[in-house]
Amino acid sequence: MSTAKLVLGGKEHELPVVTGSEGEVGIDIASLRNATSAITLDPGYGNTGSCRSAVTFIDGEKGILRYRGYPIEELAEKATFEEICHLLVYGELPNRKELARFKEGLAKHSIVHEGLRKILETYPRATHPMAILSSMICSMSAFYPWETEEDEQNNALLLMTKMKSIAAFTYKQAKGEPWIYPRTDLGYASDFLQMMFTVPNRPYAITPVQERALDLLLVLHGDHEQNCSTSTVRMVGSSQANLFASISAGVCALWGPLHGGANEEVIHMLQHIHDEHGDYRKTIAMAKDKKSGFRLMGFGHRVYKNFDPRAKIIKKAADDLLAEMGVKDPLLSIAKDLEEAALQDEYFLERKLYPNVDFYSGIIYRALGIPMNMFTVLFAMGRLPGWIAHWMEMRKESGGRIHRPRQIYTGQTQRRVPALDERK
Ligand code: SDX
Repeated sequence: MSTAKLVLGGKEHELPVVTGSEGEVGIDIASLRNATSAITLDPGYGNTGSCRSAVTFIDGEKGILRYRGYPIEELAEKATFEEICHLLVYGELPNRKELARFKEGLAKHSIVHEGLRKILETYPRATHPMAILSSMICSMSAFYPWETEEDEQNNALLLMTKMKSIAAFTYKQAKGEPWIYPRTDLGYASDFLQMMFTVPNRPYAITPVQERALDLLLVLHGDHEQNCSTSTVRMVGSSQANLFASISAGVCALWGPLHGGANEEVIHMLQHIHDEHGDYRKTIAMAKDKKSGFRLMGFGHRVYKNFDPRAKIIKKAADDLLAEMGVKDPLLSIAKDLEEAALQDEYFLERKLYPNVDFYSGIIYRALGIPMNMFTVLFAMGRLPGWIAHWMEMRKESGGRIHRPRQIYTGQTQRRVPALDERK
């Protein structure tokens, strides 16, 4: 086995080097503190591997993304979201029989316990759907057992189908419209759309292109290795908290505008440029000005220093969907102009900032009639199989160790407690 040499305090230490199946190299520091009493420091974990994982591979320099070895471009073309769920959670693409059985399981469990419905109805209509989604998922632990390994396997299936129903019910609750229940004869994407947009006595038809556009977005959001929300799911699950609690925490982490909340922020940004008659120059100038605190939303990525392969696929799908629907969305042309201008600007080029998965996805959600405050809910629905896959892998692989990073303390050194009247 190859090793890395560390010289600290005049002493030399050898640390094992691990190499992944794609040739990635990591220095195993598990023995570091015992051997040197020193720890490493890496705020934001940009250089720190938290685990070994076999779920997803990303090469940020080359813009490569693979789920269980399959390139995202091929999966986007050849697999439905149900197949991706099976691939990520159980490790393999299903054959025809396995897919039929998996879909039966999703259909059988798609109805949500009426007790959860009563909880959902208590939320004010203006509540952000991500707040409802996270708490409803955690509340599932009050209605479905989670004590045994078998329970948790079953809960993975329950979550993969009930999250769709909870999301649609959240939308109906906000609209004050009657809730539409899931249908067992429809695929995941079309069932979600019919639950969202069917209104009694008003015909609603989903075209295959609309269904495919949503299914594609769900496929593309399936997993993305150790991102902020997935690491949160692993962290919470490492304390032996149940799957519902762990996924609920992942939803909260995803909500942030630097992560899954960016898809909603991109539309706000494009809308603002539209209100400025398409003049994106001020937006770009603000993004380059550190003092503004503004970031070009949907741009940049911790791992991708090349195009995010998902952004390229979504951009084309947005074009196709709008053409098929005969919709002209001014925000799409603004997004394209913004991308072109940024990619000719030294600031973005030298920092290798490219469009990420969130830059164009909102254009498709808009065309499908999904309201902006639901965009990140759709992201969570897509990411759910990835979260479940990582949670299961963590439970199996890490030997049950709780995740507990260390720190470098920079506060006050020891001092005496002054009596109340002594204090200034
Ligand atoms: C997702 O991790 C994942 O895999 C996430 C995700 C997934 O599928 O799970 O891909 C989904 O969350 C995509 C990212 C969505 N967020 C956004 O679009 C928000 C805007 N983007 C940025 O805030 C930022 O790019 C991040 C948060 C995505 C990444 O941040 P990093 O890696 O911490 O980057 P950084 O702050 O170290 O930036 C490096 C430099 C800095 O400038 P300098 O200090 O070197 O001068 O690039 C600049 C940053 O100021 N920069 C940007 C920028 N992103 C980085 N400047 C302007 N606009 C931006 N968007």
